[in-house]
Amino acid sequence: MPIRLRLTLWNCLLFGSIMALVISIIYYTHKQASYEAGDKMLTNISSHVQEEITRQLKKGTPLEKVNMSVDSLTINEYAVMIKGKKDELIQTTSHLFLKNHPFSKEKVFLDGSEFQTVTDKNGIRIRIKINPIYLDQSKIGYIETLYSLDSIDRSLKRFKWTVIGLSGIGIIIASIAAWFLAKKTLWRVDLIGKTAKAITASQDFEQRVLYTGPPDELGQLTGTFNQMLDSLEKAYKNQKRFLSDASHELRAPLTTIRGNLDILHKMKNIPESEREEILEDIRNEVIRMSKLVSDLLSLARADAGQIYQKNIINLSTITTEVLVEMELWEKAVLIESKIKDQVMVWGDQDLIKQLLIIFLDNSIQYTNPKGRIYVMVTEEKKQAVIQIKDTGIGIPMEKIPYIFDRFYRTESARKQSPDGTGLGLSIAKWIIDEHQGRIVVNSKLEEGTEFIIYLPLVY
Ligand SMILES: Nc1ncnc2c1ncn2[C@@H]1O[C@H](COP(=O)(O)OP(=O)(O)O)[C@@H](O)[C@H]1O
Ligand SMILES: [Mg+2]
Repeated sequence: MPIRLRLTLWNCLLFGSIMALVISIIYYTHKQASYEAGDKMLTNISSHVQEEITRQLKKGTPLEKVNMSVDSLTINEYAVMIKGKKDELIQTTSHLFLKNHPFSKEKVFLDGSEFQTVTDKNGIRIRIKINPIYLDQSKIGYIETLYSLDSIDRSLKRFKWTVIGLSGIGIIIASIAAWFLAKKTLWRVDLIGKTAKAITASQDFEQRVLYTGPPDELGQLTGTFNQMLDSLEKAYKNQKRFLSDASHELRAPLTTIRGNLDILHKMKNIPESEREEILEDIRNEVIRMSKLVSDLLSLARADAGQIYQKNIINLSTITTEVLVEMELWEKAVLIESKIKDQVMVWGDQDLIKQLLIIFLDNSIQYTNPKGRIYVMVTEEKKQAVIQIKDTGIGIPMEKIPYIFDRFYRTESARKQSPDGTGLGLSIAKWIIDEHQGRIVVNSKLEEGTEFIIYLPLVY
């Protein structure tokens, strides 16, 4: 069942129940009041007649001759009858009333119960009050006061059907209002649904829900939905760019390798030295390619959200180890280091090693042979601090925000080291995030660069 219909039905039910309750209360109160007013009138008339008759009887007037003096009341609504001890009619105010309302006499019993309601032969209800007549302490007859409930009954019936009709109309109006109100609210939900469907069909993450309503819950939902589309669009574009960049980067070495292989294949008798050169070229390209592929693999793992088991590791010894390894194959640049003992962090040993190599490798690549590199490991405010500073080519201020992007390389970096891939820092950034750390970059073109990495300490 659609929400709109459900909301309308609920509204209808709620409104209907409240109406029914209110109407019943009003109806029964009104009914009670009407009947009570009738009974009161009956009581007044009958006691007036009783007094009058008693007075006349005391004067010696016989029961057949007494004057009831209620002539003004002998119209259709009321009648008063005087009856003897055996229920025989002695006098009556109006024959018209009895003619209009013939009722079977058996129903009236004279046992002194005050009010009785009987139904005449036409189905009209008649209220009767019976008062005994006494003379000298003995009962000599009865006064029967009759009152037709016809007009009260009819007016109550009219009242009942009027309110039922009116509330029916009210419910219909309320339902129509609820139906349109639900439409007014739900079209916004509908809009989100339609946009989502359109996006699913077209894979076009540039679409947004155009929302102009108030900033209520649905407005917030729309906002969140659009934000989700923003990040989806960004992720989708990044993924696409990554794939095309990766293919592009892989094609360059493959082309070189293929060209060189073609030369070797076609020219059978090239000098030995040239042959060596070509083979060396191929070897270098293959090395570059395997590095690229292993970097891509790291990033693919990062994207797949691989979870690493973290242990307590000694940052000091890891850094020292990496520095020793680095110095073995890189002797041109002077590396100075100052490492505090026993700096313990939570982490994955291999990832932290990879992190250090990425930064040291960059510093070495982008620093001229006469330059210097400083490595420092310390503790500061419950954080481990790794500082790697060089006197290299530096990074232009405006380019710093991009260096962590995949495949991003500055102009001067391309010149200085054509073999780079532009993936190192994006892997480093992921490793830092994975360890809940953060990084600060300070750099000045042609003066040097400083990376400061903060990692949470174990203690
Ligand atoms: N120590 C550094 N000195 C100067 N530039 C750097 C340094 N480290 C990184 N960069 C800049 O950041 C870019 C991205 O670095 P990276 O991701 O390691 O890729 P790659 O080293 O393969 O170019 C480099 O191309 C370079 O422009
Ligand atoms: Mg690098």
